[in-house]
Amino acid sequence: MERPSMTRLLHPSVPAQPGGTPVASPIFQTSTYELPRSPVAAEIAAAVAPTGYYTRYGSPNAREAEVMLADLDGAEAALLVGSGMAAISAALLSNVRAGTEVVAQTSHYTAALTLLRTVLPSYGVDVLLVPQESIADAVSPSTGVVYVETPSNPTMALTDLAAVRAAAPHAIVVADNTFATPYNTRPIDFGVDLVVQSATKYLNGHSDVTAGVVTGSADLVARAWETARVLGPVCHPFEAWLLARGLRTFPLRMARHNTSGLAVARFLAGHPAVDAVHYPGLATHPQHDLARRQMAGHGGMLSFTVGSAEAAARVLGSTKLARNAVSLGGTETLITHPASLVFAHQSPAELAASGVDPALLRLSVGLEEPEDIIADLDQSLSTL
Ligand SMILES: Cc1ncc(COP(=O)(O)O)c(C=O)c1O
Repeated sequence: MERPSMTRLLHPSVPAQPGGTPVASPIFQTSTYELPRSPVAAEIAAAVAPTGYYTRYGSPNAREAEVMLADLDGAEAALLVGSGMAAISAALLSNVRAGTEVVAQTSHYTAALTLLRTVLPSYGVDVLLVPQESIADAVSPSTGVVYVETPSNPTMALTDLAAVRAAAPHAIVVADNTFATPYNTRPIDFGVDLVVQSATKYLNGHSDVTAGVVTGSADLVARAWETARVLGPVCHPFEAWLLARGLRTFPLRMARHNTSGLAVARFLAGHPAVDAVHYPGLATHPQHDLARRQMAGHGGMLSFTVGSAEAAARVLGSTKLARNAVSLGGTETLITHPASLVFAHQSPAELAASGVDPALLRLSVGLEEPEDIIADLDQSLSTL
């Protein structure tokens, strides 16, 4: 019996197939690429984000998503990485060194807060955290980087991007635009230098991928790429392919998130068991005027308080359609209790500084019929 040949197994001869170009992109599920035997190989190795060299450096699937993401943000370039936190880390670490002054918010996504409060200071970076409304006042000529998040998770407070840009003309301004998305706010139009987003959320939109993106000028994105190349948070080809697939319906999904988000916010605002609703699209939002200037629509994220932590637990425990899960921006409605879950890594004092009320619930309004989402909330609030 002839033994299988390892060489033949490793070098199969595949006959060419008749037919045309695939309409859906193939997935380039390879870690490495055969290189030309010429000095061109060294040129490929030295390029920024080559797509045919080694997948930690880039891939055709990542590039396809990057082209779409840069276009959505009105940016020169985009870098796709393996999570929103990887995007935030690459954007910040590529622009700080020991002694750099960073001004950021007291209210940020929890892991970004840990990066700002613990990781950056441990490398000698000076981080000043201030309430969102004071950011423009807190910057000084020695500020090197300003990091903002608008609307912020989970308080739904806004940062005035144009005011920050005007107050810090010399600094690199980085904005987390995960909640607004480029459908509702394009931070680059307000003078922001680098936009970071968790593509895990609305950009992919189906709760089946973790990914992150940095967009901005080609120079700043190349610097972020160099940091990501060294730290290694790859967005793998299949995830990049799924993201590019999700992006094809992004505007359709966002239009629905906007109308359903507003409908649910209005319902909650009129409910007697609800103390406060935080949604920039409501006229009662303290920064509604800024929301009108800075946001084309207000998305599907909102938070609301219901009297006490116990009452919040009761509502959370009795929704039937809205599922109790972290993350957001998917097709399905999700509800979560930020004080106990999302902020599990913050101390009580840090939680208070972030403005997270123990009675606060955060809702990611999905693509179900809005009346079904409202009926579910109505029945869960009736348990109070
Ligand atoms: C506003 C915001 N930024 C960044 C992140 C981090 O994204 P990822 O979980 O993809 O790392 C999140 C995650 O929830 C978020 O809500």
